[in-house]
This record gives sequence, structure tokens and C-alpha cells, in this order.
Amino acid sequence: MKSSYLSLCLILLSISANALAADEGAAVVDIYGNPVQAGVEYYILPVIRGRGGGLTLASTGNKTCPLDVVQEPQEVDNGLPLTFRPANSSQGVVRVSADQNIRFFAVSVCIQSTMWTLQFNDSISNYIVTTGGVEGNYGRETVQNWFRIDEFDSDYKIVHCPGVCDTCRVVCGDVDVLVQDGIRRLVLNGDGPLKVMLKKA
Ligand SMILES: *[C@@H]1O[C@H](CO)[C@@H](O)[C@H](O)[C@H]1NC(C)=O
Ligand SMILES: *[C@@H]1O[C@H](CO)[C@@H](O)[C@H](O)[C@H]1NC(C)=O
Ligand SMILES: *[C@@H]1O[C@H](CO)[C@@H](O)[C@H](O)[C@H]1NC(C)=O
Repeated sequence: MKSSYLSLCLILLSISANALAADEGAAVVDIYGNPVQAGVEYYILPVIRGRGGGLTLASTGNKTCPLDVVQEPQEVDNGLPLTFRPANSSQGVVRVSADQNIRFFAVSVCIQSTMWTLQFNDSISNYIVTTGGVEGNYGRETVQNWFRIDEFDSDYKIVHCPGVCDTCRVVCGDVDVLVQDGIRRLVLNGDGPLKVMLKKA
């Protein structure tokens, strides 16, 4: 009894130590320099011009659902608005390198949620960013649902490397674009991170 309680405490301690490190970090700011607020709608837009627009949902390859996260083909398109939910739900702003759930604020034709989740795709031998994640429950059962925003040059990149616990083996990588059949899919670890900025919707 006593020893199981002790190990539970140790697990809780390591979770909060990881989450705390990022809670101290700087706030992510939007294109006007304002802190990005949890639960408020933003567009995630590319910084580099002429290579696609904002982020949106699309069916890719030969499957209809769940929808995958892709970039709009046209630079002028903002895509769909998104909201962020920090792993530490008492955080009102999105902090650099803190784990978040990211969700499209949109209605989908699929039964799956519009929340981002990472999934391995055998046919392209890479992890893709798709949807159908479940909100919250920060821990080893939900590792695939957490993304963070890291500083990258003077802009940002999206990273998957959840700090859910010290003993979990997690996949780490930068979110990048893979162009396939003319569709700009979000994957992990491609040619280089997708450099992004945030604009209030
Ligand atoms: C969550 O964020 C709040 C507000 O910044 C902070 O006081 C608290 O320590 C954080 N909790 C954890 C577990 O990181
Ligand atoms: C994996 O990618 C291929 C090629 O784009 C696609 O046809 C297939 O439906 C994808 N599978 C899953 C499970 O997403
Ligand atoms: C369709 O998707 C499945 C699952 O990813 C894959 O095994 C199959 O090869 C794909 N078929 C075609 C024609 O792309």
C-alpha cells in the first residue's frame, strides 16, 4: 500500500516538474505581438511566401476519415481557425515549448474530433498529423495528442515531443510539410520545420 502510494507520488511529481518547466516560459505572441490566449481562435500561417497558405482539414490518399491536417494550396487562404488548450489547464496563455491540445474550430463531416493527433502512416513511413484526438488527460495514454510551439529564428515552429513523463518513450520531431499528389500534408521530420506565425481569427 505504502510503496504503491509512493510510486504514484513520484509519477505525479515528474509530470508536474515537466509541465512546470514550460509554465515559466515566455508567452507565444501573435503577429501583432499580443500573447496567444488559450481557447481563442487563431490561424496558423506560413512565414515563407509562395509555398501554401494556412492550415486546414482534408481527406488524403484513399481514406475519407479522419481528416488530416494540411496546408491550404493557395497562400492567400488562411485556412481554418484553431484553438489551443494548454496541458496545464490553469494557464490562460499559450507558452513557448509547453504542451497543448490543438483543435480546429470547425465542423467536420467525420465522426472523429477535429483535435490534432499524431499517427504513423505505413505507406509513407512517417508520422502524419491527423485528427480525432481526445482533449486533456495529460499522461502516457494521450502522448500522441500533445503539440507545442517553439521559437524558430524570430518566428515559430510546431513540435511534437510531449513531456508527459520521464519514463515514457515518445516520438519527437518538428512539424513539416510533405507534398503528395498536390496536397501539402503535415508530417513529422521532413526537409525542415514549417516556419509559422499566428494571427487572431
Ligand atoms: C499550472 O499553471 C499555474 C499558473 O501559471 C501554475 O501556478 C501551476 O504551478 C501550474 N501547474 C503545474 C502542475 O505545472
Ligand atoms: C497513409 O497515406 C496514404 C498515402 O497518402 C493514404 O492512401 C492512406 O490512406 C494513409 N493511411 C492512413 C491510415 O492515414
Ligand atoms: C489504401 O490505404 C491502405 C491503408 O493505408 C493501404 O494499405 C493501401 O495500399 C492503399 N491503397 C491505395 C490504392 O493507395
